[in-house]
Amino acid sequence: MKVGRRVLATLFAAAIAAAPFAAQQAVGQGKAPVVKYKIVDEDSIPESLTGKPGDPEKGKKWAIAGRLGHCIACHVMPVDQPYMGEVGPSLVGVASRYEAGQLRMLIVNPKVINEDTMMPAFYKADGFHRVRKAFVGTTMLSAQQVEDIVAYLMTLKEEEKD
Ligand code: HEC
Repeated sequence: MKVGRRVLATLFAAAIAAAPFAAQQAVGQGKAPVVKYKIVDEDSIPESLTGKPGDPEKGKKWAIAGRLGHCIACHVMPVDQPYMGEVGPSLVGVASRYEAGQLRMLIVNPKVINEDTMMPAFYKADGFHRVRKAFVGTTMLSAQQVEDIVAYLMTLKEEEKD
């Protein structure tokens, strides 16, 4: 049922995008104030948010986990999962297209790069509407979880071709 899955994927992503911050902020992994970071060349955060490298194994878990990144709701990834959305581009080989700093920027706040994107800002604690009181001032991912996901994405290199 390919068509059915695609329709479902679209509905699901639309629900995520439209109802964002009741459901999504509910995660509330990180606390405000968010750590200060510097954007370089308008599309990159070259320095680790925590000053430490991320753990790619954990990053893979956060990227799949429904209550955390849930990147697979919108992106195909090279993982063994029954459901993956196709709202955003496939993340297969993404490390061959982006530098770590650019990936960090995209996860922290993709709206800096594309104001109209459906992708949520995972490390942003203000400027949201309709946030449940308990989650005011929280970010969807903690700084360390962002770093873990960056580390995981950096392992997704395009396979070498001869
Ligand atoms: C609600 C859907 C949605 C979710 C959830 C989502 N993204 Fe995205 N993402 C998109 C869309 C749509 C794009 C396409 C670019 C744009 O809209 O600006 C994108 C683009 C990207 C890109 C650039 C890819 C390329 O090849 O250009 C990366 C990297 C990325 N997302 C990573 C992630 C990660 C990591 C997560 C989980 C922490 C995530 N996304 C969660 C929708 C989503």
